[in-house]
Amino acid sequence: MQERVLGCAACHGAHGEGTDNDYFPRLAGKPAGYLYNQLIAFRDGGRSYPPMNYLLGYLPDAYLKQIADYFSQQHPPFPAPAAPAVDAATLALGKSLVINGAPDRRIPACAACHSASLTGMRPAIPGLLGLHADYISAQLGAFRYGTRRTAEPNCMHDISARLADREITAIAAWLASQPAPADPTPSAPSPLPLACGSVPN
Ligand code: HEC
Ligand code: HEC
Repeated sequence: MQERVLGCAACHGAHGEGTDNDYFPRLAGKPAGYLYNQLIAFRDGGRSYPPMNYLLGYLPDAYLKQIADYFSQQHPPFPAPAAPAVDAATLALGKSLVINGAPDRRIPACAACHSASLTGMRPAIPGLLGLHADYISAQLGAFRYGTRRTAEPNCMHDISARLADREITAIAAWLASQPAPADPTPSAPSPLPLACGSVPN
């Protein structure tokens, strides 16, 4: 498998650790069910990034599942946290939204689904650490505008549509500034505050 995924390394790192490119995500250690859903989405058009749509076009489900299993089992070190490019008040806003949400606006805490340690939840919710701020804000924008689609109901669409742009900036900056988790293992499944079609229940 390591040889088969050589073509992925230029953008995702040899072990899926990510690269310096602001828009190339870490894959390593994310739950296999999540990675599999993403590979299917790039193959079938739910997510659009032409080099990936091209690489995965026509690959069979079973092969995509092997790739997903492979990257979910990689555990390279996390990158050093990014020095935040925003002020302290903005970071505090980002932290509060991630940990508490905004119940008055029906925005659940991100930690309720992405786990208290933000390392994700098995089988299909990704960790949010080790990603660049620009990648995180681009994905929240893609969910909001529907260019990144999931099985319905698309909980991330509903959540990102309720966030203001400055809140997305704050969340992305705070997440990218967090140190590596002590234990990167995704949490066990637990009930979600909103239904997500991509997560079996
Ligand atoms: C030319 C660079 C490039 C190559 C080569 C590439 N990717 Fe990607 N990959 C990306 C980018 C950029 C994204 C994010 C696209 C977006 O904005 O949605 C991505 C996203 C992903 C995601 C979703 C990650 C997440 O956390 O949601 C997976 C899984 C993935 N790639 C797997 C692979 C695999 C497996 C290969 C090799 C077969 C591969 N990629 C090759 C650039 C690349
Ligand atoms: C109700 C559960 C739930 C809540 C609450 C939630 N998420 Fe998510 N999130 C998900 C699921 C499920 C996915 C995977 C969607 C898919 O398969 O594409 C996801 C994916 C993401 C991704 C894509 C990660 C990547 O590697 O591409 C980001 C970024 C994200 N969420 C950020 C947030 C933020 C920020 C919040 C809080 C404001 C939040 N989420 C709240 C369930 C949730």
